[in-house]
Amino acid sequence: MMKKVVALGASNSKKSINKILASFTANQLEGVEVLLLDLNDFDLPLYGIDFENENGIPEDARRLNTILEETDGVVVSLAEHNGSYSAAFKSAYDWLSRIDKKVWKGNPMLLMATSPGGRGGATVLNAAMATFPRMGANVVASFSLPSFGANFSADGIVNPELRDDLNQKIKLFQEAL
Ligand SMILES: Cc1cc2nc3c(=O)[nH]c(=O)nc-3n(C[C@H](O)[C@H](O)[C@H](O)COP(=O)(O)O)c2cc1C
Repeated sequence: MMKKVVALGASNSKKSINKILASFTANQLEGVEVLLLDLNDFDLPLYGIDFENENGIPEDARRLNTILEETDGVVVSLAEHNGSYSAAFKSAYDWLSRIDKKVWKGNPMLLMATSPGGRGGATVLNAAMATFPRMGANVVASFSLPSFGANFSADGIVNPELRDDLNQKIKLFQEAL
C-alpha cells in the first residue's frame, strides 16, 4: 500500500504561500500519495464552547479528524498572524482537539512556516514545536522559509543553503513514514 501524506497550509487565504510550500514539499516525497487540504473546504464555525454545547461538534471537524486518522504523515506549513496561528487554523485545531486531544494521531510531521518577511514565521513555528507534540505530533523536522517572495519560485527554493536544508528534512521525514 502506498503511504498517504496530508499537506496542509494552515491558512484560509486562497493564495496561501504556506499552502504552496506545503504542497511543493509534500510533492518532493517519493512513492507517496499526497492529499492537499484546504481549510476553505471545511465548513467550520469559529470555535466556541456555547456553539459546541448547543450544536455539538460539526460534521466537517469529524471529517477532518478522520482524514488525520487515515494518513501516514503530515506536512504542515503555518501562516503567522500577529505572532500566532491564523484564526482559521486555530479554530479548526480547537474543534479537532474536542474530538481527540491527540489531534495529530502520532503521525510523523514535517512542520514548517513561511512568511513574506525575514523571520519566516519563526514565532508561530516555535509555538507549534513546543505544543504540537503534546497534541500527538511526532515532529520529525521543522523548517522556516523567510522572505517567501525572494526565496521561492515555481521550481522550488532558490537559495541553495535553504534548499539543501529543506531537502535534508524531507529525507528525514521520508525515512520516518
Ligand atoms: C492579520 C495579519 C497578521 C500578520 N502577522 C504577521 C506576523 O506576525 N508575522 C509575519 O511574519 N507575518 C505576518 N503577516 C503576514 C503574513 O505572513 C502573510 O500574510 C502570509 O502571506 C500569510 O501566510 P498565507 O499566505 O499562507 O496565508 C500577517 C498578516 C495578516 C493578514
